[in-house]
Amino acid sequence: MAPLLSVSGLSVSYGRVSALTDVSLTVNEGEIVTVLGANGAGKSTLLRAILGAVPAKAGGIAFADEDVTAEPPHKRIARGIVLVPEGRRILISLTVEENLLLGAHMRADAGTVRREIDAIYGRFPNLAERRHMAASCLSGGEQQMLAIGRAMLAKPKLMMLDEPSLGLSPLFVSKLFDLIRELNRDGLAILLVEQNTGKALSVAHQATVLELGRVLMAGDPKALAADPRLQEAYLGEGEAAPAQH
Ligand SMILES: Nc1ncnc2c1ncn2[C@@H]1O[C@H](COP(=O)(O)OP(=O)(O)OP(=O)(O)O)[C@@H](O)[C@H]1O
Ligand SMILES: [Mg+2]
Repeated sequence: MAPLLSVSGLSVSYGRVSALTDVSLTVNEGEIVTVLGANGAGKSTLLRAILGAVPAKAGGIAFADEDVTAEPPHKRIARGIVLVPEGRRILISLTVEENLLLGAHMRADAGTVRREIDAIYGRFPNLAERRHMAASCLSGGEQQMLAIGRAMLAKPKLMMLDEPSLGLSPLFVSKLFDLIRELNRDGLAILLVEQNTGKALSVAHQATVLELGRVLMAGDPKALAADPRLQEAYLGEGEAAPAQH
């Protein structure tokens, strides 16, 4: 499999606070790669750095064989990188349909966009019924589906999801993971940050565990699931381990 995203020796700081140190990770074409770790481990920072929203202090990021380390986010988005951030960030005063259209703002093929929006409505009937209502009327799970639908309309090659299952009911969590599998089956590479380690390891082809900004372990998700250090990664700073579903 050809590498799509290669992060090598990446370090990121916020002022004097070091958030990532010497992090390397590869997402091959067609893969789901999950990044796990306790609160503050640097997961969101890694996704922000891949998008270009925070600069690399050291190391490099390559996408589809091009060095993108110095590129601003809009250029990386145009290459096919999309981030669904923590907390979804949909625009709640806009309608469901307006939110979807925002995802397609860089596309000129209006006819194809229309068909894709209709396909998203076909997949999510709850969104179809509420297409002309303000997005504020959606439940948390529906808002997450809207955020992913909007990201799909950007026609990405790599979709990064930051804790998409956070706050969702068990029903929506399984819907979400079905969707992740389905998008991946259609060829989309996915970089998935999750606190739901069990679910994430069950869908992923590769996994990386961060601890205090460094890679603690990486490799086969099944092997990692059985590794006691995975539990340790969640027990740093005296915190309780998150519930396993
Ligand atoms: N804007 C910022 N300014 C200063 N420090 C920050 C900023 N964002 C994050 N940090 C720090 O960087 C480190 C990594 O944070 P990050 O948000 O990447 O972790 P995370 O793994 O996503 O955590 P969580 O599970 O809580 O979302 C933490 O020590 C955090 O306090
Ligand atoms: Mg985070």
